[in-house]
Amino acid sequence: MSTDSSPLRSSAVINEAVQTLRDGGLVAFPTETVYGLGADARNPEAIKKIFNTKGRPANHPLIVHLAAPDKFDPIQVDWVPLLAPWARDLSEDALKLINAFWPGPLTLVFKKDKSVLNELTGGQDTVAIRAPAHPIAQELLRKFKGGVVAPSANRFGKVSPTSAADVRNEFEDILDLMILDGGDCELGIESTIIDMSAGDKAFLLRPGVITPKEIFAKTGIKVWQASETKSDHHAVNLADTLPRVSGSLRAHYAPNTPLRLYAPGRVLDALSEFPDTKSRVAVAVWDSESSLGEDGHPSVHFEEVEVPSNSAGFANRLYRSLRDLDQQGWDLILFPEPPPGEEWDGVRDRLQRACFGSGPSSSSQASN
Ligand code: TXA
Ligand code: MG
Repeated sequence: MSTDSSPLRSSAVINEAVQTLRDGGLVAFPTETVYGLGADARNPEAIKKIFNTKGRPANHPLIVHLAAPDKFDPIQVDWVPLLAPWARDLSEDALKLINAFWPGPLTLVFKKDKSVLNELTGGQDTVAIRAPAHPIAQELLRKFKGGVVAPSANRFGKVSPTSAADVRNEFEDILDLMILDGGDCELGIESTIIDMSAGDKAFLLRPGVITPKEIFAKTGIKVWQASETKSDHHAVNLADTLPRVSGSLRAHYAPNTPLRLYAPGRVLDALSEFPDTKSRVAVAVWDSESSLGEDGHPSVHFEEVEVPSNSAGFANRLYRSLRDLDQQGWDLILFPEPPPGEEWDGVRDRLQRACFGSGPSSSSQASN
């Protein structure tokens, strides 16, 4: 929660943030997933600022964040009128997902209303929307009374921030960037993204804490993996759009220090690529397991860092650990391969991309 405990002061801070957004400025704010870098979704100049600040290619679409309906406002009791200015052709299934999971860590992609700026969608005819659950994000959105685009508040291809201090470090050179401090993010990885724009089928675009299994259990809706749909006409369109979707790049969420995964008990195999035996290596180990003991390399300096062995705890610590280890000047960071199982898909996805893009040359790889 806010480090500023006075309700009066914190509401004054939110009002200032609202004014900054109205003036076309950027405001970083907490969500339950990661911190976002927010701008007015109806202001093309403000959107341009986001792309410039992040160093993000202009064809990578942004997510529009909306306030949840106000149960005390009789005109805004449900989601449909709130979505009408942004999305069209909402299916029954889309409404079921919204009612089951919003506000929360689920982003849905719809056909866009014609008023939605092309700058925001990267020229696509669809728009991604989510209603974050974090109370500070909700208060900001409610008072702003409009949509706020908010990519994760990090430089393009780098590790997403999960605290206000992370955002500050990421944009050290932007001294006047307004950052709302909501403490550490509860979930720690970005929202699950489901494409509902085909109308009749739901496609998973980015795994997250909300899994297809949970979606099926709560709504009866089957979520298709992009790979399950190769023969299907929609999948061809989906594949066409993938390079425009920054989360789909092989290199993403990456630290500057080389990062590799090791299979259970195979730390030495992971080292074979790094023959310099004087290396200082940080090895993440499951908190449920005993330490590596004799498995260490005789002439490499190892240090073990415990990571939670349950998927939610691991997600919560993943970006924090990567950022902290990246600061400590290791030659190599090793993480254990996440076990099989859908609840690990979100963190497995982020870790694999982080490995691919890691190391000092990651910025050139990140544009793959
Ligand atoms: O948890 C989150 O979603 C965070 C917080 C801040 O809300 N935001 C976030 O934004 O992760 P960003 O920009 O880092 O990732 C947004 C992703 C894009 O990479 C892309 O994959 C997807 O949203 N996206 C946006 N618009 C889309 C569209 N029209 N079609 C398909 N995917 C889209
Ligand atoms: Mg991002």
